[in-house]
Amino acid sequence: MSPTTSAQPRPNNYVHADLRSDTVTQATPGMREAMSSANVGDDVYGEDPTVLALQEQLANLAGKEAGLFFSSGTQSNLAAVLSHCGRGDEYLIGRTSHVLINEAGGTASLGSAIPWPIEVDENNQFSPDDVRAAVKEPDQHHPVTTLLSLENTINGHIQSVNHIASLASTAHECGLAVHLDGARLFNAANGAGVDIDAYATHADTVSLCLSKGLGAPVGTVLVGDQSSISRAHRLRKMLGGGMRQVGHLAAAGLYALEHHVVRLADDHERAARIAQGLGDLPGLDVVQATNMLWITPPKELHGALVEHLVADGILATFWAPTMRFVTHLDIDDALADLVVDSFTNFFEQT
Ligand SMILES: Cc1ncc(COP(=O)(O)O)c(C=O)c1O
Repeated sequence: MSPTTSAQPRPNNYVHADLRSDTVTQATPGMREAMSSANVGDDVYGEDPTVLALQEQLANLAGKEAGLFFSSGTQSNLAAVLSHCGRGDEYLIGRTSHVLINEAGGTASLGSAIPWPIEVDENNQFSPDDVRAAVKEPDQHHPVTTLLSLENTINGHIQSVNHIASLASTAHECGLAVHLDGARLFNAANGAGVDIDAYATHADTVSLCLSKGLGAPVGTVLVGDQSSISRAHRLRKMLGGGMRQVGHLAAAGLYALEHHVVRLADDHERAARIAQGLGDLPGLDVVQATNMLWITPPKELHGALVEHLVADGILATFWAPTMRFVTHLDIDDALADLVVDSFTNFFEQT
């Protein structure tokens, strides 16, 4: 289930803390200033200096040859998968991955690339042996397996550099390309205490989102080797993703890279602060991973708890049985404490 398909409370004037996702952030005054004063040109002609600068900066940070600006993570992932898979090819992907579950089936629907889901553990991980077992033997009955698609963080969980490296080297040994959905790779790198290239070096293409924890209103840069990015460039055009004076948006990304990367640690600390504050409440199961909290209340209290939180001006993604809370740029210590207080009051009254 995704936030947009379930009946979720919507923000209104009474919302104090919106923890539905780190995508809900508003551009800061400094970011707005950078956007309005950006130098721009027609990016379909390759003439937007701000887009070119953003693409180059992210490619350099990731240790890749080239970068390409996309309107969204979904579009970037779709172009990446289709740059590696021909019609009827198969790609391997974890069962809880965003590309598999939350991108409208685009790879199969628009590109005839067939996902093969791999079961995952409680940290959303699978093993190199799982990859080996899933690659199809050359046989007329099977599709041709051409790609392994990874995600990091995945549902907030960090996959270690060693783990990503062993998955990727197994895939490469089996002749597969590797795509990494790094919508939150900066969170993973921050949490693991490494730079993003430590991860990116193992993948052929990586989607890097600017509109999640980095706080830009829009944008994802796909980085990779020149030939993958050239294929993705044509696919971007085909998908209607060629944009014109888009440097105004790229400027937000450049601003985010300068001002909002190191501070991701604050989001992780605030998620930990909430987890710690909720630690003693009865019957509440709390899992914290980077900037995400997965909270499972006693089943019979779920509905009343949601009503109570909303009445206190707190929004989360109120899936049942497990709710998701995401900290971000617009959640400070006081709002983190508001969440803890609201939960605490609820359990005191119940
Ligand atoms: C892990 C992950 N990948 C990709 C995306 C897609 O990004 P977008 O919403 O920009 O299409 C999301 C969106 O939240 C995401 O969480």
